Amino acid sequence: MPDSVKPSERRSSARTSLVWTALEQVLAGAGDVLDIGGGTGGFAVRVAELGHRVTVVDPSPDALAALDRRARELGVAVTGEQGDLSTLLDVSGPASADVVLCHGVLEVVDDPAAALTTLRQVLRPGGTLSLLVAQRYASVVARAMAGHFAQALAMLDDPAAGSGRAGHRFTEEEVRALLVGAGFEIGTVHGVRVFADLVPGSLLDLEPGATAALVELERAVAERTEFRPLATQLHVLAR
Ligand SMILES: C[S@@+](CC[C@H](N)C(=O)[O-])C[C@H]1O[C@@H](n2cnc3c(N)ncnc32)[C@H](O)[C@@H]1O
Repeated sequence: MPDSVKPSERRSSARTSLVWTALEQVLAGAGDVLDIGGGTGGFAVRVAELGHRVTVVDPSPDALAALDRRARELGVAVTGEQGDLSTLLDVSGPASADVVLCHGVLEVVDDPAAALTTLRQVLRPGGTLSLLVAQRYASVVARAMAGHFAQALAMLDDPAAGSGRAGHRFTEEEVRALLVGAGFEIGTVHGVRVFADLVPGSLLDLEPGATAALVELERAVAERTEFRPLATQLHVLAR
């Protein structure tokens, strides 16, 4: 990564690079992509740049306005619709998407099982769900490293403890059970951000080549089950 890249972009690249690699394979040949809770379009706009028809459904008007600005700045079309998981079938209709992105949203919905059942209905037969969720054990480690030991202890077995606005945290077992319960067949499961959130940002800013080396390390551990519980997020592809 060249030195001219901003520090925030370096960290963001270290955090999302793996997800993109998996997504690019899934997106090949896909027409309609739905990004539920797509927010300001960090993923959606880039997917649109690849030539797909992208719709973002999100409850936040502010996020949708920011999405619109971002898409216009880059000269791509992304449809923004106000709505949420509970109204998704009315907004998008059943069997309307080849790929559904649900990134960082399952954590904040009241009923994750119902949410996944809805996503299954929105997908066309043979379509793929890209699910990115926060993992509980990584949160325990993060809390402990920040000195919040009581919070870390409370979170060990309780998905909602100490989660505040960030929402629930899931274990891999819980995510798998939710997906299977909603009728999905689980494909690949990757651990994302095993180290990226633990290394000081200054290290990436000051050390030439550090971001690329970190991304390579993240790639090497993403599929190794012994590291997976330490990943900040799980990225699951399911059909
Ligand atoms: C952590 S952000 C993730 C944004 C984006 N998906 C990403 O990965 O960068 C969570 C998003 O979910 C949206 N959201 C909150 N509750 C929702 C719900 N019930 N259904 C759908 N989206 C929801 C929020 O407005 C916000 O844009």
